[in-house]
Amino acid sequence: MILLNFVKLSLRSVNFRLRNVTSTTINDYDAAAATYDDYYSRYLGKAGSTLTEKLPLKAGDTIIDLACGTGFFSHEIAAAVGEKGQVFAVDLSPKMLARNRENAAAKHLSNIEFIESDALEWLKGQPSGAADGIVCGWGVCYMNHTLLRNEIERVLRPGGFFGIIENRACSLQAVSDLFRDALLEHPEALAKNMSISLPPDEKYLVKTFSKGMLTRVDSWNGEIVVPCKTGEEVAEYMLRSGASAGFIDALDQTHFETMWSEFVKKADQRIARRGEVPVKHEYCVLIGRKKTSS
Ligand SMILES: C[S@@+](CC[C@H](N)C(=O)[O-])C[C@H]1O[C@@H](n2cnc3c(N)ncnc32)[C@H](O)[C@@H]1O
Repeated sequence: MILLNFVKLSLRSVNFRLRNVTSTTINDYDAAAATYDDYYSRYLGKAGSTLTEKLPLKAGDTIIDLACGTGFFSHEIAAAVGEKGQVFAVDLSPKMLARNRENAAAKHLSNIEFIESDALEWLKGQPSGAADGIVCGWGVCYMNHTLLRNEIERVLRPGGFFGIIENRACSLQAVSDLFRDALLEHPEALAKNMSISLPPDEKYLVKTFSKGMLTRVDSWNGEIVVPCKTGEEVAEYMLRSGASAGFIDALDQTHFETMWSEFVKKADQRIARRGEVPVKHEYCVLIGRKKTSS
């Protein structure tokens, strides 16, 4: 049965890939926008703050925050660059962006411009040398890395900096395995292919982004474990944090409830057998700078 379902699932996946039927993250992030800060930022925020603290932000700087979401980086940066500085906060999800705007207003930050757009497409429209800094927090996986690198190099002024933090390809491995096992029980639930490009590690970020005029300043790997005691808690975290964005959209929505209960059941079974489901975010970070001369 499992072997047959494995074949079915593989055929569906190949079929969607060939026909370019790929899931998007917009609806899933829109759905998670109201709870994102209480789940994702609550746990991953300390990794983000470590990055911001190391960025050479100065009063008056113009900084671009790509895939800004609810504004974790936008707000820390807006406070650091002050009234005379400016943050351009770009995101594809209208509800994540609306949350960012509300959060900024609550903190009396008035130096952020909010832009609803694909980050890379927007960046392509910016003048060369326009930014003092570019940050991309947990959003690089949704972009073509080479094109992004080229645009960062072009849009930064000489001496400008960039900061990237992203989940590694090995992140949330146990949870991914459970999703795969649940799908193996219900291969008909897969309705689209899912396409994200998670970097393997910090070395990859350095190799991919620090070339030409861009050079490495600092880079590291890290991990954060989200405590979840039951399958229900794991499922809740994955949905409300947006960590399953793109995956939910890849499901045929008529099978969503069945798939989700299967996931919870499998997570509970694993907890009963092995005592836990490690909800472990493994991430990598790169801080770089554009050289002043080649
Ligand atoms: C994990 S959240 C990160 C949000 C924020 N940077 C933070 O650190 O909390 C990923 C964000 O990327 C956005 N996103 C996904 N694909 C995008 C794209 N192609 N262009 C712009 N934003 C995108 C999503 O809407 C979501 O808000």
